[in-house]
Amino acid sequence: MSAKWLNDAVFYEIYPQSFYDSDGDGIGDFNGIAQKLDYILSLGCNAIWMNPCYDSPFHDAGYDVRDYKKVASRYGTMKDIEHLFREVHKRGMHIILDLVPGHTSEEHEWFKKSSKAEKNEYSDRYIWTSWWLEGGDGLNFVAGEAERDGAYILSFFKCQPALNYGFLKPEKPWQKPMDDPACLATREAMYDVICFWLDKGCDGFRVDMADSLVKRDDDKKSGTIKIWQDILGRVHKKYPESAFVSEWGRPSQSIKAGFDMDFLLDWGGNGYNSLVRDYEIHDDGTDNSYFKRTSKGTPDKFLDEYLALYKETGTKGRISLITGNHDTRRLKKGLTDEELKIFYAFLLTMPGAPFIYYGDEIGMRYLDLPTKEGGYTRTGTRTPMQWTSGKNAGFSTAPAKELYLPIDKEQYKKINVEAHEKDGDSLLNTLRSLTKLRHSNPDLLKNANLEILSRKPLIYKRGNMIMAVNPNGGKETFSIEGTENAELLLSLGNATLSKNRITLPAGSFAAVKTGSSKGSSKQK
Ligand code: NOJ
Repeated sequence: MSAKWLNDAVFYEIYPQSFYDSDGDGIGDFNGIAQKLDYILSLGCNAIWMNPCYDSPFHDAGYDVRDYKKVASRYGTMKDIEHLFREVHKRGMHIILDLVPGHTSEEHEWFKKSSKAEKNEYSDRYIWTSWWLEGGDGLNFVAGEAERDGAYILSFFKCQPALNYGFLKPEKPWQKPMDDPACLATREAMYDVICFWLDKGCDGFRVDMADSLVKRDDDKKSGTIKIWQDILGRVHKKYPESAFVSEWGRPSQSIKAGFDMDFLLDWGGNGYNSLVRDYEIHDDGTDNSYFKRTSKGTPDKFLDEYLALYKETGTKGRISLITGNHDTRRLKKGLTDEELKIFYAFLLTMPGAPFIYYGDEIGMRYLDLPTKEGGYTRTGTRTPMQWTSGKNAGFSTAPAKELYLPIDKEQYKKINVEAHEKDGDSLLNTLRSLTKLRHSNPDLLKNANLEILSRKPLIYKRGNMIMAVNPNGGKETFSIEGTENAELLLSLGNATLSKNRITLPAGSFAAVKTGSSKGSSKQK
């Protein structure tokens, strides 16, 4: 059983560097987030995922942790984050942190000790080969940097040595089995980190590269699943209201591993990109994204994949759809605000726990920028939040050249929270209506009630709610004969309901509540 608060959770992802700078040093901080909680809640987002906030040399934006139990001074103090937790809870909201269990920074004390020539408690906390010229047995490795004879295996960047949770089937003397005391010690250390933060008052974690713990794992990830079942089994017992979402992308595996939710990310040519970022798939730049008004895209690729995962996951866990995140190009790159409204309507009426990336509520765009802190092409998605048309878009009082990343100078005067709040029809206000629709209709909060009634137009039913989506092409109609007391609760793009027939101009969405349904609804 997952935490009860997940039932109606709508998450807001915060990249802390860029959200709100409360002390004028040019970078966002914990107190800045605390000051904006009422705004986040006003969006209908009652939960927060905050990207890594721990002590770090920031060679990968904090995903290179130097000390799991210390906060990065750029964001404030331990007292400040505890204050943030209290302020979140005061408002009935929840906050999850980002756990990075697969690797640390090469500056972590464990790694420094592990690199020493003489054997010590941390010698096998990371994966080291037997000698310096051995190679990595197919895994990425770094040789020639340590006093110790041997190369270390990497998890992601060069600055991120992999923690040792063992190999499913060790084949070389340096490859340890998962139940080796050193691998069990790594597992305990991570359990300890989780408990440390849950005791401080956070409500759970988004888990980075959660599928990557065991090396040479099989296709089913049976080794990694076993480790999480152990860790999360204990955590959930001790903290029944804690929640965990995995960066895994295979809910049938991650939910079995004990996660409450799993992200459906834009990985491996899956259907997500076909909805909103189809141009990522083609080399010639064509964009046939389903939610693009002028495209001929269909939801088929997405639905085929999603429905299979949804069926396997069933009532056990949630699939999390996202507007974007700190690793993906902002959707504004391909879609207009009007198109985004229809996509957000879809996202917020589907099962699972949805995630909104900061700035996506006002349609912030992707900027081409030089890399910052290991961001590379991701940097353009991490620019400061645009609050107002004033200095630095209201993000910070620091001189512009001292900002963590530049403000979007060409757009912030028009595209900011202040301007969106004034316009009743803005993307931000539409998002508010959509989250309100979700929170006030219990059928939209249930997880296992999705039925697809039609793919063109896309019509889906959840209990007594029927949603109709027609992002591209021409006008469509759909009959909901057999239902009583049908009521149009929300319409975008002039969708209408008359005599149990939904009419959908291109670029429209309707949410209809029905009293009861007799027989099946069918398309004209
Ligand atoms: C996934 C995170 O989302 C990304 O930002 C990071 O660079 C890698 N994992 C490595 O931790």
